[in-house]
Amino acid sequence: MIEIVEKILITCALPYVNNVPHIGNIAGSHLPADIFARLCRLAGYDTVFIGGSDEHGTPAEVTAERLGITPRELSDFYFKIHKDIYDWLDISYDNFSRTSIPLHHETTLDFFEHIQKNGFIVENTVRLPYCENCRRVLPDRYVEGVCPKCEYEHARGDQCERCSTLLNPEELKSPRCAICGEEPVIRDSNHLFLSLDKLEPRLREWIESKKGEWTGQVVNMALGWLNEGLKPRSITRDIKWGVKVPLKGYEDKVFYVWFDAPIGYVSSTKEWALNQGEPELWREYWQGDARIYNFVGKDNIPFHTIFWPGILIARGGYSLPYRVAGLQYLNYEGDKISKSKGFGVFCENLPDAGLSSDIWRYYLTLLIPETNDSEWKWAEFQERVNNELVANLGNFIHRSLHFIQSKFDGVVPEPDLSEDDIELLKSTEEFAAQVQELIFDIRFREALRKVFELSDRGNKYFQSNEPWKLIKTDPKKAGTVLYVCANLCYDLAVLLSPFMPKSSAKIFEILNTKPGTLQDVGRQKVAAGTKINRPEPLFPKLDDKKISELKNRTSQVTKYEEMIMGKISYDEFSRLDIRVAEIVEVEPVKGADKLLKLTIDVGGKTKQIVGGIAQQYSKDELVGKRIVVLDNLEPAVIRGVKSEGMLLAAVDGDEISILTPDRDAKPGSKIM
Ligand code: MF3
Ligand code: ZN
Repeated sequence: MIEIVEKILITCALPYVNNVPHIGNIAGSHLPADIFARLCRLAGYDTVFIGGSDEHGTPAEVTAERLGITPRELSDFYFKIHKDIYDWLDISYDNFSRTSIPLHHETTLDFFEHIQKNGFIVENTVRLPYCENCRRVLPDRYVEGVCPKCEYEHARGDQCERCSTLLNPEELKSPRCAICGEEPVIRDSNHLFLSLDKLEPRLREWIESKKGEWTGQVVNMALGWLNEGLKPRSITRDIKWGVKVPLKGYEDKVFYVWFDAPIGYVSSTKEWALNQGEPELWREYWQGDARIYNFVGKDNIPFHTIFWPGILIARGGYSLPYRVAGLQYLNYEGDKISKSKGFGVFCENLPDAGLSSDIWRYYLTLLIPETNDSEWKWAEFQERVNNELVANLGNFIHRSLHFIQSKFDGVVPEPDLSEDDIELLKSTEEFAAQVQELIFDIRFREALRKVFELSDRGNKYFQSNEPWKLIKTDPKKAGTVLYVCANLCYDLAVLLSPFMPKSSAKIFEILNTKPGTLQDVGRQKVAAGTKINRPEPLFPKLDDKKISELKNRTSQVTKYEEMIMGKISYDEFSRLDIRVAEIVEVEPVKGADKLLKLTIDVGGKTKQIVGGIAQQYSKDELVGKRIVVLDNLEPAVIRGVKSEGMLLAAVDGDEISILTPDRDAKPGSKIM
């Protein structure tokens, strides 16, 4: 018999990498997607969780330009920071890709070609805002102005942040350039459009079918846009950084970042399949009957309920999302998180803050903005950690395991189970079922609360049975109590694993029992006679001093842009023409006892340089030596002698050591 395991593909909105994530980004997409993925694996689904970075777009190009580096260098720099943060937080991506890779560009072109062939692309001349001051066409978000719908003063040309309406830059009232503030002029330019108007009936039918399954917010938002009528939407932009448009006349244009970015979900799945050694495997997730879950923030909802499904329908042959889990925003202490004001918790600070990633995951799970905006409050963080994590969950696990360690020599005792014990042990199955159901319904906070309900039950059981008294009066009964507790600890570890994977692993380790799946809950997997490992408290109690330390530390704003500007880019480095040269002749420089004039051969070209090595090297030592020189230094005259390059040497006070190639490198060889 072939067991058919249902396939689930989970995506998290691909973050832009011209900035660094804060807790709002984590609670608003990566963490819920991760909890979901972990639960799916735990429940035995064939699960693939993919993500990646969204690297194209005008902001990346403009930021890179401002910093004097290329957009690719900018992406490389931030990609690593993003990746490290998600890894540190145990976001269990099966693949984390990048939209700048060739595979993604190819995939985007495949989508475009099919969409065009299927008749969903139209060309139009558009009048675009152009900033004469910045000398660039100002796409979408680089025009700001007053929203025609809600009158918000700082609406962007692609979308109004306040009312979420999708906009075209021309619709803004009192437009201005977001880079310099000048009023843009209007210029004509040809662009390609996706015929969303033609896709409207199918999109409507699809959204209607999700009523009652998705949250009201997501469905209503989507229906709202549909009811206003969809217009063709442009999918090309006048910038250089992005996926090139393969049409004549479009040499200076690239695809709109929101056209290529969601296709990144497909490319990332392809990359995952390649890494699995099964290049075609991605099809089973995109072209079969896998369920696709998209975790996205509020501002991404229109793109994932209209634009991206529109692209998928127009492409043909791909599945539509099974569920778009649209999350709201996380605020911080009564206001919006703001990097520029240093107001928030910035993730790059977390690894050094001294707490396990699980503690952050724990409180952030409670703050996942499932249906409403939520708010980080340090007082609540402290309260929850101390009163729930430490006093409830941590307490039950530690007191149980510590009791086994100290009173039973660390060996899980043989039980004599009563009806009630058996019922209690079995009741955890129900918890497992509920946790699964709640997570599938994107109700993570309630699901986590279930876990705490179970540990609360464990605490009450321990407390009312008083094993510390039984151990003297009825050791057999005390042993039974601890056997039950050990098995509850195991079940808790299973149920905790989607939320707090490190703590879960630690509990299994102390129990000296293989980590289980959801099906193992309620099955008494910790056998009597198991020798456990020495327990230690799982969670730290946080006093006021620690909280204020954490608050200071995590709100630090790392000056990444200054770091970037202090460095030289690869492009700059590659302008240095450093080469191997051979010394042909050595002469003293008159009136300068530290200098020598060296005639050198740089691969068929002879030139002279002046170097300050007369005190350290003799003529005999130098003639015939292979050295390293900066060949394209602008010429200078030193003490009346022309110098056409620079000799490279290690300098330590008066000690000077000339650099020489380690092997026999020919004069003229380039150093890189
Ligand atoms: N980069 C976008 C943002 O941060 C999200 C892109 S989601 C994708 O808002 F679907 F396009 F990938
Ligand atoms: Zn400007």
